[in-house]
Amino acid sequence: MTQAADLLDPAERLDLDGLRALQLERLRNSLRHAYENVPFYRESFDQAGVHPDDCRSLSDLSRFPFTTKADLRAHYPYGMFAVPRERIRRLHASSGTTGRPTVVGYTENDLSMWADMVARSLRAAGARPGDIAHIAYGYGLFTGGLGAHYGAERLGCTVIPASGGMTSRQVTLIQDLKPSVIMVTPSYMLTLLDEFERQGVDPRSTSLRVGVFGAEPWTQDMRREIEERFAIDAVDIYGLSEVIGPGVAQECVETKDGLHVWEDHFFPEVVDPITGEVLPEGERGELVFTSLTKEAMPIVRYRTRDLTRLLPGTARVFRRMEKVTGRSDDMVILRGVNLFPTQIEEIVLRTPGVAPHFQLRLTTNGRMDALTVRAEARPDADAATREAAARSIVQAVKDGIGVSVEAEIVDPESLERSVGKIRRIVDLRERRG
Ligand code: DLL
Repeated sequence: MTQAADLLDPAERLDLDGLRALQLERLRNSLRHAYENVPFYRESFDQAGVHPDDCRSLSDLSRFPFTTKADLRAHYPYGMFAVPRERIRRLHASSGTTGRPTVVGYTENDLSMWADMVARSLRAAGARPGDIAHIAYGYGLFTGGLGAHYGAERLGCTVIPASGGMTSRQVTLIQDLKPSVIMVTPSYMLTLLDEFERQGVDPRSTSLRVGVFGAEPWTQDMRREIEERFAIDAVDIYGLSEVIGPGVAQECVETKDGLHVWEDHFFPEVVDPITGEVLPEGERGELVFTSLTKEAMPIVRYRTRDLTRLLPGTARVFRRMEKVTGRSDDMVILRGVNLFPTQIEEIVLRTPGVAPHFQLRLTTNGRMDALTVRAEARPDADAATREAAARSIVQAVKDGIGVSVEAEIVDPESLERSVGKIRRIVDLRERRG
């Protein structure tokens, strides 16, 4: 089932040829805009021996150099802007766990395009004008709150700008104001779930109909958990500050089969993370984005470090990206085996007696790295169930991922709760060398 055509934007109604033609025209303009107005791009294109005029087909994009987070950091704060500072209406910044944050800027047109993309995302998620949308992504320099906010207003929703935190008040707001849509990180949704239960309110009894979850990786098993516990539809929204914020790609509620990339504004490629070679559709690698219409901060072949693959469109003409497995930075290499927190999430969520809260603790054991999966017991799990759960996690990791870990089942409510993006890995390894 696809959405009634009258609900779609003109770009969502293009056929594939129309879309590719629009992309090529926009790509050429965007490369020119970057080259002419950002010294960094002029230098990097010149150094690679390419000029915007060399882009005659979409596949010519692969001749252009990549842009990395380090490039953005090196031009902190305003060096990547392509318009005079006076035309910048808003700044956001990525959290930046180490070193300088990355500052991004938006012109009035950029803010409007962003609101359109979030409105389109919400519509694909099943929201409609007139819905009440509760936004529990953090407001501030993080793009989640304000990005979601203006998009929901653009669609014609009544917006509750709750932001993150003050968890018990969130439950009260949801009870009293009766939103039908919630936008929040999946990990914070679980924190809300606990709070509903603590207050003795059945989470399945709320007015919520759909949740639009993103800003961190989450699995199909987590979708099932959230959908069942809240009796809602749970769909995935993806984005990153460097490209715009939330609303780069969105899953359609009618198919829930991966996220349609809003390719009329953000051109995706998947490359081999080591060689940088563009991979054919369907192969897994690192996602790379080129903006097609951004004014303040055009971005060319930005290496997201997010791992996924591209698939043909289904509910929309746009290509889909599979749910993100994780970031290359979050990959743990344990005795030569690559492991992502999402793989552990799948295992934890399938283990009886265990709640969907877990943490990965890395330690040094002699000369070796060791990993302990710390998962919370469900309140009704007795000692025998907990022991069985620990054994079952160890076995499932051994069988499914091929590496030995330890598992510890901790008491209910003993692991730190997320109020925004969760950090799964606690790295206590001794520094060597
Ligand atoms: O997290 C923007 C956002 C806000 C997206 C709200 C969705 C909802 P940043 O703080 O710049 O921006 O972080 C971007 O978060 O490169 C991914 O690693 C991760 N990420 C974002 N959405 C998803 C998702 C926002 N749906 C980084 N699935 C990205 C997996 C995601 N990872």
